[in-house]
Amino acid sequence: MFNIPLIPEHASTFAAKVDPLFWFLTIFVAIFCVAITAIFIYLGLRYKQTPGRKSEHYENMALELTWSVIPAIIAIGIFWWGTVIYFEYANMPEDTYDVSVVGKQWMWKVQHPNGKTEVNHLTMPVGQAVKLTMTSQDVLHDFYIPAFRVKQDVIPARYTTMWFEATKTGEFPLFCAEYCGTEHSTMVGGVTVLPQAEFTAWLGGETGMTPVEAGAALFQQMGCVTCHAQGDASRGPQLNGKFGTEETFTDGSTATIDEEYIRESIMTPGMKIVQGYAPLMPTFASQLSEDDINNLIAYIKSLS
Ligand code: CUA
Repeated sequence: MFNIPLIPEHASTFAAKVDPLFWFLTIFVAIFCVAITAIFIYLGLRYKQTPGRKSEHYENMALELTWSVIPAIIAIGIFWWGTVIYFEYANMPEDTYDVSVVGKQWMWKVQHPNGKTEVNHLTMPVGQAVKLTMTSQDVLHDFYIPAFRVKQDVIPARYTTMWFEATKTGEFPLFCAEYCGTEHSTMVGGVTVLPQAEFTAWLGGETGMTPVEAGAALFQQMGCVTCHAQGDASRGPQLNGKFGTEETFTDGSTATIDEEYIRESIMTPGMKIVQGYAPLMPTFASQLSEDDINNLIAYIKSLS
């Protein structure tokens, strides 16, 4: 098992930025906490109510303003500092290596674009932005890599994303950071960061179906093709080139066709019926795993 230090090492581009803010906040709060408590106790004893002592009314506008304005400026400064880091984390870079992650009680399943899968482990290249698209098969989980200073909820029936870029090679711990049932504490694993060339060699080592190929096979197998076949739009909407476009529904509302919309349409087809079509499609909720749905989404994306 990993030896877990109090302060994890810095292994991503975020780490060196998050830690100064963390330490500033911790020390700043500690100083104020001690100072205010000390002054509070001293003044309480010094000006204790005794028989015969009369308190006087005292006003000092300059003092009031000073201890209001200075902390306000400091608070805004802290907010600005945190926001700058958060924006960097929230803005996905263009050129990412995309990996899909499914959390389930109690394991992480990771799938690479070429179809290679890993359990409770993520292998990735150094010096390249990696993007995770994550969902859960059951309850709330949380993908957490302390050495990268990244953490993101993994939510059933929703897709969350997260990105990071490793700055050094090595082995780093991976945790589930959300209590998800009896064996939550066993939902741990590791991240291996390899040099580009080694990563490419590792990735190429296994042959299997890519998510797009697996999705195409499912598309036939589950009978999707009978209503959504290319060139025939009589029973169900065409899917070619639809990903990322806007669709209009029978109630006049619109939505962009994204991962979540496709998932919803497979699991609860009656939720949004495309204009001009009847609600014929049955649910596939009990027949498909989250991995199957990820593959179908990859296939539908590839039709664009
Ligand atoms: Cu999954 Cu805790």
